[in-house]
Amino acid sequence: MSSPNTERLREELTKIDDQHERITSIIDFLLCSFAQDLPIADLQEKLKELINLLHTHFTDENSLFSQYGYPQMTSHMQEHKAIFEEINAQYQLIKRGEKTLSPILADHFKYLEDCHIANADKAFLDYFRQKLTV
Ligand SMILES: [Fe+2]
Ligand SMILES: [Fe+2]
Repeated sequence: MSSPNTERLREELTKIDDQHERITSIIDFLLCSFAQDLPIADLQEKLKELINLLHTHFTDENSLFSQYGYPQMTSHMQEHKAIFEEINAQYQLIKRGEKTLSPILADHFKYLEDCHIANADKAFLDYFRQKLTV
């Protein structure tokens, strides 16, 4: 029989997994659009969706760390801040029409997918899921 706290943590982890899937799907769409002639309005709209989702997602992960305690909380939260600032700075340029998708933005996306989500996020998800099994 699991406690309400355990159940809540399980639900939080599932929510984080779902957010990762949505983030990955938007990033994959944007990376594919590098090779295509995506209308600027569609690009801006998709990026806005990503920025909003990232804001919610990083806030949710940060609050999970504070609520349940995570040893790498400080460095992980600093990484969220840096990633968000970098992607948001590129988005602001694109929103003002000063720039279109660039290799810099593609590098930030790849870092987010291949380094942050695949490694740092996997590490905390494994950490909490292990706690659920003991
Ligand atoms: Fe994440
Ligand atoms: Fe994260």
